[in-house]
Amino acid sequence: MFERQLRIEDVPLARRADTGAASAGYAAWLNTGWEGFHQQPATADQLEQMLQSHEIAARVLTGVYDDSLPAGLVDPLLPVATYATFAKTLNLGPGPVPAHLITMVTVRPTHRRRGILRELMTADLARAKAAGFPVAALTASEATIYGRFGFGRVTEQQTLHLDVRGDVRFHGAPTGSMLQVPPHALAGIAGPVFERFHASRRGSIGRQEAYLRHATARWGQEGPDPDPKLRAAVHLDVAGEIQGFVTYAFAGWEPKPVTLTVRDLVATTEVARREIFRFLASVDLIERVSYPFAAANDPLGWALEDPARISYTGREHGLWVRVLDVPAAFAAREYRGSGSFALRVTDPQSLVSGSYTFAIRDGRAVISESAEDAPADFSCNAATLGPLLLGACGVGELVSAGLLEPSEPAALASLAALLDLPGLPHAINGF
Ligand SMILES: CC(C)(COP(=O)(O)OP(=O)(O)OC[C@H]1O[C@@H](n2cnc3c(N)ncnc32)[C@H](O)[C@@H]1OP(=O)(O)O)[C@@H](O)C(=O)NCCC(=O)NCCS
Repeated sequence: MFERQLRIEDVPLARRADTGAASAGYAAWLNTGWEGFHQQPATADQLEQMLQSHEIAARVLTGVYDDSLPAGLVDPLLPVATYATFAKTLNLGPGPVPAHLITMVTVRPTHRRRGILRELMTADLARAKAAGFPVAALTASEATIYGRFGFGRVTEQQTLHLDVRGDVRFHGAPTGSMLQVPPHALAGIAGPVFERFHASRRGSIGRQEAYLRHATARWGQEGPDPDPKLRAAVHLDVAGEIQGFVTYAFAGWEPKPVTLTVRDLVATTEVARREIFRFLASVDLIERVSYPFAAANDPLGWALEDPARISYTGREHGLWVRVLDVPAAFAAREYRGSGSFALRVTDPQSLVSGSYTFAIRDGRAVISESAEDAPADFSCNAATLGPLLLGACGVGELVSAGLLEPSEPAALASLAALLDLPGLPHAINGF
């Protein structure tokens, strides 16, 4: 399927020897990726900003080039497809594990459906497995693309709107204090606060350094340019320790309702999160506060005397996870109690096909691989492993959906008792 005139190349994070500016190859790759997401070509300053951040993240960039295009009409440095990866961590409950993150997947409209994504993805997932990553993750523009590559949906997010007209009353009394700070004051705060949140929240995905540039207003929402509209505040607990921060921007007098948009909100405790919303609700001349990374089961409604002040729009899938190593990944999540079962996995990419025996004692599992045709209590496709790993839904729901098949219907209750976890995984950022 993959055509001979198409060439796959790694694109170095290179600079010109004479000026130190981004190389022409890097600029062509970035602009092609940006075009895929309908952004304008990067200015010289934006190129420099992006190159710096890609250097810090040690991103691996790949481009696909079509040597059959007429050189006089098309710059041969311009790829027809882009793909990028970098390493971060994913919290599986007990804590974060290494995760191979995939991003900037674009294919030019002239080259769609010619197997380019399949070729890139197949080779990359095999490389990530060989490098020892237990999981890969991505965020998807469309839900129907990545299941075929073994990715399963593990988080959802929605925009929470809090109507702040009149007196917004919370059940709990205010605690600690809020402090408005200039965004640049978050330089030494945003990273450590996020790391504490990340260490404690199942489903949280690590942040690249670009998030710090956004939090400190060096980068705006539209691109890597300063953002003079950004405002910031921190929450201090009664001991004076910073337990959270928020960045937000005034969305304008029109359209109504007059809205404050939260750009980023990280809190290490639910109390800090509640106090940050109490602060946002107290900003004068504002009718609505909107927060785009609320969980499907966001707890804020329980904190308000009038939960009808909250409404939601734009519920969408967030993180998609692909298990690359069943024993390593599933040994890093938690279980309830003790027990055992065997799971058979079929995998179109043959990365994790096999039968696995789970021996669970006091909430932790040891997983061993057995012969592929060994009898199994359950079977599933590789794409079901992500939600199973993160506890993104109950075992019963996976069975009802036809994603997990028990050999005996009676086995369902004991598997659910071992695997079902309280609450849902949630990520407060993409990448
Ligand atoms: C998604 C995208 C990268 C696909 O690239 P592509 O090279 O055309 O894909 P391929 O030809 O390799 O197709 C691989 C498989 O995915 C399927 N597929 C590709 N794009 C799809 C889409 N948008 N919706 C559903 N299925 C899709 C193909 O039908 C094919 O299925 P099959 O092999 O099972 O028959 C391309 O459409 C694109 O650039 N989209 C916009 C950017 C984007 O969505 N990026 C992802 C977030 S980073």
